Amino acid sequence: MSSLEQTLSIIKPDAVDRNLSEEIKNEFKNNGFTIKQEKKVHLEKSDAEKFYLVHQSKPFYNDLCDYLSSGPIVVMVLEKENAVIANRELMGATNPSDAKEGTLRKKYGISIDKNSVHGSDSVINAQIEIDFFFKS
Ligand code: CMP
Repeated sequence: MSSLEQTLSIIKPDAVDRNLSEEIKNEFKNNGFTIKQEKKVHLEKSDAEKFYLVHQSKPFYNDLCDYLSSGPIVVMVLEKENAVIANRELMGATNPSDAKEGTLRKKYGISIDKNSVHGSDSVINAQIEIDFFFKS
């Protein structure tokens, strides 16, 4: 069954730094997503730690939070039928070297850390992540 959903997308520091934001936003639009909200932010490390709290116990947590707060990011609310899964398919595997041809991480990712984009992994987490960045 399909339903109109929203998901959170982040263009990460490696892609913003390489001036890929507009190109990646066009990838979303060309794949049927509507960008409902958008902002460019530079997170404090403490904010990155809150955002990635689910990964707190992982060995890469500290580096991950250092990285997300290392430069500006573009945060977007994307809308489409089944947006969460559709975005994960468009992004491809977490590690760009495992990602399929044509996916964003294959095209733009540099490494498992600098993998250019983040997307919510479930409808519940999408709402939590959207609220994290956009709830006033
Ligand atoms: P993202 O989808 O933003 O969610 C968590 C991030 O952790 C992931 O993308 C990767 O960039 C990063 N990461 C670093 N090392 C690993 C790892 N070994 N397994 C999964 N994710 C990792």
